[in-house]
Amino acid sequence: MKPEILLVEPMLDLIEARLDEAYLVHRLYAANEQEAIEKARPAIRAVVTGGGTGLSNDQIDRLPALGLIAINGVGTDKVDLVNARGRDIDVTTTPGVLTDDVADTGIALMLSALRHIARGDRFVREGRWAQGDSFPLGTSPKGKRLGILGLGQIGRALGRRAEAFGMTIGYWNRSPQSDTGWIAFSTPRELAANSDVLAVCVAANPATEGIVDVDVLEALGSEGVIINVARGSVVNEDALLQALRRGTIAGAGLDVFVGEPRIREEFFTAPNTVLMPHQGSATRETRIAMGEVVLANLHAFFSGEKPPTTVN
Ligand code: DGY
Repeated sequence: MKPEILLVEPMLDLIEARLDEAYLVHRLYAANEQEAIEKARPAIRAVVTGGGTGLSNDQIDRLPALGLIAINGVGTDKVDLVNARGRDIDVTTTPGVLTDDVADTGIALMLSALRHIARGDRFVREGRWAQGDSFPLGTSPKGKRLGILGLGQIGRALGRRAEAFGMTIGYWNRSPQSDTGWIAFSTPRELAANSDVLAVCVAANPATEGIVDVDVLEALGSEGVIINVARGSVVNEDALLQALRRGTIAGAGLDVFVGEPRIREEFFTAPNTVLMPHQGSATRETRIAMGEVVLANLHAFFSGEKPPTTVN
């Protein structure tokens, strides 16, 4: 008998085929499976879920045999790690393999915001170029200061890329990171005050919720641009929307939002704002690599070994 697992959201076909080979997979997102899932609950020993989706404590309560939550991503903000540990449930993530793609997304958002790429696309399609309308000048990244909020693997990869654009790099991190040679600032506000572009890369948790607040945005200033490839909850969205509307910051490039995918409508009309639908790690190569890590964790768990990338 194959072990039973619950898949909360779809993965690449080739990864799902590998899951089906080894496990009896119940798909939470498949409308025709709901009855089967209800029956299977007592037998489900592992759940695979997305970083932005996680698994609630209520869902955990309804899975009495659960021993593994394998997150297909690095964010752990949607799983209560302490509760999981207390119930002897391992939680795993997919560290390392998505670093480069998320950092690339940060650079893409930065360049889009500085050089008005998305706006240029609309300008051409709407025929405004042909009509001779004027298009605003952009801002060169060269010689500008990138402030990285949260110097984990993604923040570091973003900083290395930005160096190639001729930017100087500063950062704020909860614990000091002296090996980069980049300028350390002691508060997010101080970092923002010394940055032209503020890149939010910090992990979401209760300590970082709303860490980018009115004060930080005010310190970033009217020429400053904010990029977020972390989580929407790290930024106070009321403060951000107000700063964009009033022009007290110059623009934003955002891949993540509170309440995504149903984000606040004010973002649709916010000036100089580039929006992406949480695609930081969404390349075929990286989604395959992430799937391999999920499979390795499942196989270890069902062989009675410690899953290799356990985080709790
Ligand atoms: C992550 O790694 O958590 C990404 O946001 C994908 O969900």
